[in-house]
Amino acid sequence: MTRTLAIIKPDAVASRKFGAILDHLSREGFAPRGLKMTRLNRAQAEAFYGVHRERPFFPSLVSFMTSGPVVVVALEAESAVSRLREVIGATDPAEADEGTIRALYAESKERNAIHASDSDENAVAEIGFFFSKADLLSL
Ligand code: CMP
Repeated sequence: MTRTLAIIKPDAVASRKFGAILDHLSREGFAPRGLKMTRLNRAQAEAFYGVHRERPFFPSLVSFMTSGPVVVVALEAESAVSRLREVIGATDPAEADEGTIRALYAESKERNAIHASDSDENAVAEIGFFFSKADLLSL
């Protein structure tokens, strides 16, 4: 079993789709180990997405990610990182496979409902960004 981090983004929280997304993740075999609703401040969003700092969409991404609450969930499954990326689909919902979370729930390439870690190394760092060891529990 390995772990990954998902962030249900402000678009999907504001539109009350986060419950359906959590259910979708559960039905796909992901076990929650940590879960919280929080609102990122500008410094947190800039740090979390630091790798994209030079990209033209960075200011808009930071503004979007701080626009309202997010639901952050540490998930466990076999090959969690690659499995979750399959289940959420392509960044742009117009290109996401049918039945993926972004195809079902995302609004646009930026307002794309959910973030997922892109490597085991980043998953460890991203889980640590939001959760202490004591926050991570087994059911
Ligand atoms: P995420 O998987 O969280 O990683 C970086 C985020 O930046 C991505 O999802 C989108 O929300 C956003 N993003 C990536 N590419 C673009 C783009 N070309 N235009 C706008 N937003 C983007």
